[in-house]
Amino acid sequence: MNADRIAALYRWIEYCAFGKALERRRFAFLPLVRGARNVLIAGEGDGRFAARLVEQNPGVRVDVLESSAEMIRLARQRLPQDAQVTFHQGDALQTPPGGPYDLVVTHFFLDCLSDEETVRFIQGAKQHLSFSALWLVSDFQQVSFWPASWHSWIWLRVMYGFFRVFTGLRTAKLPQIDRALHGAGFELVANDEERLGLIVSQLWRLDHKGSQL
Ligand SMILES: C[S@@+](CC[C@H](N)C(=O)[O-])C[C@H]1O[C@@H](n2cnc3c(N)ncnc32)[C@H](O)[C@@H]1O
Repeated sequence: MNADRIAALYRWIEYCAFGKALERRRFAFLPLVRGARNVLIAGEGDGRFAARLVEQNPGVRVDVLESSAEMIRLARQRLPQDAQVTFHQGDALQTPPGGPYDLVVTHFFLDCLSDEETVRFIQGAKQHLSFSALWLVSDFQQVSFWPASWHSWIWLRVMYGFFRVFTGLRTAKLPQIDRALHGAGFELVANDEERLGLIVSQLWRLDHKGSQL
């Protein structure tokens, strides 16, 4: 996937399609991660979340894994000069650059991965986390009950089609994010949805007692 072509317009396309719904999802559980000091963000995009995190948690250190040079350029512009945010341009599936992290953030990023890549990313990141680390995720989901199932099915087809044409995204199907996080030993601590369940924010905590590794 190469998001360079859509980076400048990404925010406006999102607002046209969903208003401020994605923005609300990204920031929904920020008050619950006020204590985070060392954070890994994958697929940050144009920097809106990172800027809000730094504003809320002054002194936080952040590693951002992002493949798009243009997204990184936009994100840098949003951050204060003294922000301790390091951008690593490349594939987030490679080994994380540091740690131990007490928070991982994946907002609308895992939907760019296949099931196998999602499991690999989560299991790889897990090796770089501190005890009881948190995982903040917002993403789309396929709702199972009618008629909301139609609503989410149509939106997912539209979005995967858009990203395939404009960014070359290869996957066309949501990975099973809950299953992958649960399988890696995380427990769900907060969940909130909107748009008939299409868009969800979740906060997970690494549960060492239940960990399968
Ligand atoms: C759909 S956008 C989401 C951006 C932002 N996190 C948000 O909340 O809207 C996906 C982002 O992940 C990045 N991305 C996709 N696959 C990637 C990968 N394998 N490694 C690093 N970044 C990736 C894209 O460049 C893009 O900025």
